[in-house]
Amino acid sequence: MKTWLKYSLIAVAGIFVLIQFIPVERTNPPVTANPPWDSPQTKELARRACFDCHSHETKWPWYSYVAPASWLVTKDVNEGRQHFNISVEKMGEADEAAEAVEKGFMPMSIYLPLHPEAQLTPEEKQALIIGLTKTFGTEKRPSTATPPSPESQIISPAPVTEQSRTDYKKHKEESERSEHGEHGEKEHKE
Ligand code: HEC
Repeated sequence: MKTWLKYSLIAVAGIFVLIQFIPVERTNPPVTANPPWDSPQTKELARRACFDCHSHETKWPWYSYVAPASWLVTKDVNEGRQHFNISVEKMGEADEAAEAVEKGFMPMSIYLPLHPEAQLTPEEKQALIIGLTKTFGTEKRPSTATPPSPESQIISPAPVTEQSRTDYKKHKEESERSEHGEHGEKEHKE
């Protein structure tokens, strides 16, 4: 073996051993709250697909004891718990849970190859979405949070009320007028 290769391998092995000494926290603090699960089935599906990152009942796999994999696992669990934690009173973004599953964001795709139990069949996925909606509700953005632009009002699927219709007409008239105004100005300049 070439000398440089031998020393490189020794160096890599040395670094691997050394990084094992960097402390990593794998915590499972006490469970102080339980969501009002709509059914045992929802809880079971969530246990399979979500609990490891969104509860204090994380099953820490063997590779979570080996750096650098341990860094990735603890990062996902800590971030997951920060966003949505079913083991505490303030559960966080629970009202986004159903949507996260529906859109395929959750469970995280990196999690699936090593957790076959979290791979839900289409029927199970559907049952989980319905169960999460019943248990946690869904996010309803207050309409005042971000005032919709006139354009989005026109294409928004919101029910067309008398008010929105007149708004739309007013807006259309206004934009038409300003368009003409611009033209007028241009013509004037030319
Ligand atoms: C491997 C760990 C992991 C698993 C398993 C997992 N999550 Fe997450 N989850 C995360 C992380 C990390 C975040 C924060 C990610 C971000 O904001 O980019 C997150 C964020 C969320 C959020 C906050 C809103 C959002 O979209 O950012 C919700 C709700 C959520 N997850 C629901 C679920 C549900 C429901 C399941 C089970 C079907 C699940 N998660 C499975 C790690 C996980």
